[in-house]
Amino acid sequence: MDCPTKRVGHLAFVSLLVVGALYIFIPTSDVSKGLLSSKYCQYSSSPKETTTVTLRDELEATLDGVATENKTLIVVILNKAYIEGEKPMLDLFLESFWLGQDTQFLINHLLLVAMDQVAYDRCKFLRLHCYRLVIDGVDYGEEKLFNSRDFINMMWRRTLFLADVLKRGYSFIFTDMDIMWFRNPFIRLGQNESGDIQISVDKFNGNPWSTNNHINAGFYFVKSNNKTISLFETWNAMRNYSNYKGMNEQDVLQKMMRIGMFKKLGLRVRFLDTLFFSGFCQNSKNFSVVATVHANCCPRIDAKVADLSIVLRDWRSYRTMVDDSKKRLSGSTNDMSTLRWSKHVACITSMRNFNRASLS
Ligand SMILES: *[C@@H]1O[C@H](CO)[C@@H](O)[C@H](O)[C@H]1NC(C)=O
Ligand SMILES: *[C@@H]1O[C@H](CO)[C@@H](O)[C@H](O)[C@H]1NC(C)=O
Ligand SMILES: *[C@@H]1O[C@H](CO)[C@@H](O)[C@H](O)[C@H]1NC(C)=O
Ligand SMILES: *[C@@H]1O[C@H](CO)[C@@H](O)[C@H](O)[C@H]1NC(C)=O
Ligand SMILES: *[C@@H]1O[C@H](CO)[C@@H](O)[C@H](O)[C@H]1NC(C)=O
Repeated sequence: MDCPTKRVGHLAFVSLLVVGALYIFIPTSDVSKGLLSSKYCQYSSSPKETTTVTLRDELEATLDGVATENKTLIVVILNKAYIEGEKPMLDLFLESFWLGQDTQFLINHLLLVAMDQVAYDRCKFLRLHCYRLVIDGVDYGEEKLFNSRDFINMMWRRTLFLADVLKRGYSFIFTDMDIMWFRNPFIRLGQNESGDIQISVDKFNGNPWSTNNHINAGFYFVKSNNKTISLFETWNAMRNYSNYKGMNEQDVLQKMMRIGMFKKLGLRVRFLDTLFFSGFCQNSKNFSVVATVHANCCPRIDAKVADLSIVLRDWRSYRTMVDDSKKRLSGSTNDMSTLRWSKHVACITSMRNFNRASLS
């Protein structure tokens, strides 16, 4: 493909106009295809390639609008199941940013990646940062039961998307929506020497560098660099190796870690202490430092919603207690150490039923 360099500047300008016009006409179903082609000279060839470049710019513009000045953002996946019901998961998630300590501003850096049109419309209506991800042929709006085939396909699609974000030079925290944000996690994630990837665990074994921790891919921070890009490319490619077929992306990542692939890539991976990045598998022991609470160890969305509502209630009690002790000036912190999270009754029940069902 020849590309007359003299014309690039001119074409770049024209392409801006073309981009503007095309935005209006391009069906979103093309968004997921060929995201990485970038040569301006392709404008002079087929209209198909023009589309490619245009769409690249759409994601680029979205990322640019949501990231911090150091090119970092928070990514969460949104689908129809999270906006339905009496108490939608999305509402709980957003409420945690509101109730959290210095977490409100983080909403400006949160990108909601919508897997279906209803979710996207809802996101836009709430005036949040939204991006529509389209996947061939499957309705990702419905709740997918953990480890069903559609669930697994959805998870892989999002991993591919995240690889694309890294390739564009953006670092991110990926968070599941069933995670409550109570404190700014960036403070705990450190700025340097903290590893290329920092990932949450179901149960923390006490050593942040020990690969014997069992990862939970519901929350992790990835710095964009060559090593992490390689990891995500390898991770995506693993999907089709016969040994890994049908496994979900989290289990594949765990396997990759076990066979020493992180080391081979020169990746530094830090595992996050549940004292700060907690969940239902292992509660944080300290309200005064907890950053996030994940409804993990819980297979059903209705159970998650029920128990996360109680988590929010517990958090409100804690904040009230802090405010009261400040007023009294006496600093009666004794009360605080007796604070405990309520039992996650709905999740414990649904986990028991899930295990029973998968045994039979
Ligand atoms: C990146 O941005 C976040 C959010 O604004 C901030 O907390 C963090 O300190 C920044 N990191 C660096 C390395 O500047
Ligand atoms: C990490 O950050 C500290 C303080 O900002 C700085 O003194 C130190 O040199 C940094 N280390 C690396 C390896 O960049
Ligand atoms: C990746 O590696 C190439 C070549 O080694 C280097 O030029 C480039 O700056 C690196 N990119 C990042 C994001 O580290
Ligand atoms: C893996 O298989 C899926 C589904 O069959 C396909 O869409 C995808 O392109 C393949 N990925 C790679 C990296 O070969
Ligand atoms: C909780 O963390 C705070 C702040 O680091 C500390 O002062 C307090 O002693 C901790 N409480 C418990 C019960 O560990």
